[in-house]
Amino acid sequence: MIFEEHYTLSNGVDIPKLGLGTWFIPDDHAADAVCQAAALGYRHIDTAQAYANERGVGEGICTCGVARNELFVTTKLAAEAKTYAKAVQAIDGSLETLGLDYIDLMLIHSPQPWNDFRGGDYAQGNRDAWRAMEEAYQAGKLRAIGISNFKEQDMENILSSCTVAPMVNQLLVHIGNTPQSLMEYCQRNNILVEAYSPIAHGEILKSAQVTAMADTYHVTVPQLCIRYALQLGAVALPKTANPEHMKENADVNFVISDQDMEALKQMKPLKDYGEFSVFPVFSGK
Ligand SMILES: NC(=O)c1ccc[n+]([C@@H]2O[C@H](COP(=O)([O-])OP(=O)(O)OC[C@H]3O[C@@H](n4cnc5c(N)ncnc54)[C@H](OP(=O)(O)O)[C@@H]3O)[C@@H](O)[C@H]2O)c1
Repeated sequence: MIFEEHYTLSNGVDIPKLGLGTWFIPDDHAADAVCQAAALGYRHIDTAQAYANERGVGEGICTCGVARNELFVTTKLAAEAKTYAKAVQAIDGSLETLGLDYIDLMLIHSPQPWNDFRGGDYAQGNRDAWRAMEEAYQAGKLRAIGISNFKEQDMENILSSCTVAPMVNQLLVHIGNTPQSLMEYCQRNNILVEAYSPIAHGEILKSAQVTAMADTYHVTVPQLCIRYALQLGAVALPKTANPEHMKENADVNFVISDQDMEALKQMKPLKDYGEFSVFPVFSGK
């Protein structure tokens, strides 16, 4: 069962290979989604300050009946928190909103604020935010720390000045978008890659080519997508609040052949992400 599989981060902390994404799950539905997922066997939940559902996610964590130390909770420091003081406040704010004594993994959500994604120079701001993350880690508030949407030069900036190296980089990784050299850079630096939007935010469900390959394995497109991310050596974070989809997404006990993995790595990018192309992460930058 995929639920029993984990990776081990560079600091020795285990992280379940499959996690539940919660972007777009409203706060008042989040506790229910977390409880449904936990009942099915999910032990890893991914949220963010920006999703405005940390309260509901925390409620689910505390009421789902699974021991806290068997659950892995990730949240993300707002992309706009680029000073030490703002980061300290926001980290403590997440602990309070989630209602937890500690967070398993906290990530800097983006190297730039969302309204300037891939824009200006925030190197100093990221180093300052990272110092706040390191201190919260040393204080035991965070069991692991990392980054998201960081490219090579953003990572260099942290790696050249940190006292604790990032353990994770959460990136847009799905069939049709496989940033191989960036993933190899992470691997060389002992930074585990997490694949966000592994189903391309749903857009890939429309792909005839991916559907045809899924058919050859007698699996669904989401299952092929999740298995693809796992075989790349990444964590997979599919989002759904639908228990049927949660169940299906965890049923990935099959193997994509090496030849098909190569074909999927080379697959042409999606034309766009439909109505969701307006989000910075889907802007192609
Ligand atoms: N770090 C970042 O900057 C960043 C950016 C984006 C996402 N993320 C994280 O990654 C998670 C996943 O990414 P995402 O939310 O963009 O999208 P995703 O997981 O790639 O795709 C979600 C879409 O796929 C559908 N879906 C899921 N399982 C399905 C199934 N078995 N059958 C049919 N449809 C299915 C969902 O519909 P239903 O809801 O109806 O099931 C939803 O429309 C997020 O929730 C978030 O936690 C992080």
